[in-house]
Amino acid sequence: MSDSTPLQSGRADNVAPTSQLSGILRRVSGFGDILQRSMGGGDHPLFIQIERIDGPVNAVISGRPTTLFGTNSYLGLNFDPRCIASAEEALRTWGTGSTASRLASGNQIGHANLEQAVADFYQRPDAIVFSTGFMANLGAICGLAGEGDLILYDAFCHASIIDACRTSGATFKPFRHNDAADLDRILGESTFPASRTLVVLEGLYSVWGDVGFVKDIATVAKRHGALVLVDEAHGLGLYGANGRGVTEAQGAEHLVDAIVGTFSKSVGVIGGYCVTVHPALKSLRFLARSYLYTASLPPAVVASARTAIGIIQSEPELREDLWRKAERFCRGASALGYSLRADPGPVGALHMKGLYQGFEFWRELLSRGIYVNLLVPPATPNGEVLLRFSVSAAHQDSDIDLFLSVLRDMAPKAAIA
Ligand SMILES: Cc1ncc(COP(=O)(O)O)c(C=O)c1O
Repeated sequence: MSDSTPLQSGRADNVAPTSQLSGILRRVSGFGDILQRSMGGGDHPLFIQIERIDGPVNAVISGRPTTLFGTNSYLGLNFDPRCIASAEEALRTWGTGSTASRLASGNQIGHANLEQAVADFYQRPDAIVFSTGFMANLGAICGLAGEGDLILYDAFCHASIIDACRTSGATFKPFRHNDAADLDRILGESTFPASRTLVVLEGLYSVWGDVGFVKDIATVAKRHGALVLVDEAHGLGLYGANGRGVTEAQGAEHLVDAIVGTFSKSVGVIGGYCVTVHPALKSLRFLARSYLYTASLPPAVVASARTAIGIIQSEPELREDLWRKAERFCRGASALGYSLRADPGPVGALHMKGLYQGFEFWRELLSRGIYVNLLVPPATPNGEVLLRFSVSAAHQDSDIDLFLSVLRDMAPKAAIA
């Protein structure tokens, strides 16, 4: 590609050799060198460009029509005509952006209506909307916990939770993934008052695709008197009778003090939110710096998110369709001998034997018109190499059958058959 960057093309002609650099530039440049070396020839998972998009699960990549099995569009709502119509209307009426933070001139009626819709959806008194899910975690966790407090988080938590812990000024420590007994032990030995302890976990962990043991962990936390925050970024729209997530599905909503989520996955746009039963939430608007010091969501995004939440609430059949397709795929992949890291669900991971094999496998899938995510250490637990897939309600059964037939052909290369 003529307009590719030096990193994408593997050329480094306008980049000074690392050996001539020192300090910060040497460290940063060294990282780029490692990326270049790891690229070899052909497509690279970090630099895939979608050249055209033809709907929630169809695209053109490297000149080839490709079926996407690596997006977070679980319900296909990013192309739902009702969401698009709301966005178009808001775009024409309210313009392209709010151009300011909520506390300056960026506080529009649409933002308040969206917050009300989120609060109603969760049957909680109030909700606060952030500009991304990352910022929602940052704002909620740093707003709730600070110096003199303790944050205990599941060891598999997302980077936004870890960064929030680091930024908060609180003491923070992981407990073993999904291990309520480990949390119990840490809380029992803690010198921090339980009332100054925040426990953070996720509803659905998106690397393996395993659900969080929300009820077990929240029960332990509550027994000690700690606060509980659950990130339902991936659970929203997928789990629970009303689509509120894993916390709802496990009947654990009464045990949870705050729920954080994102609009960037099943909702199909961008943005984040936090809901809680506590009136203290109102103070987050003044305590959460990621809410205070950044521009509010664009009106079209706000309008589309509100429409999507209404659809998630009123159309459980979309969720049922997603689960039917997810189970069809997971059952099929397991029957072919692939090792799934978790129970069947809309997101999951196929275990690969090694880094080289993972790369080659990912590239061959792409060359056959199937896009998935390749996850490699250090971004994975236990140094695993994983092919992360996601299923969408927007997939046709024929898409799933195509993916399975490619996996059947490739099974010998995965050394699993
Ligand atoms: C568990 C979890 N929390 C938060 C986020 C951040 O969400 P956003 O992309 O809206 O910033 C993600 C994104 O992948 C996530 O997986």
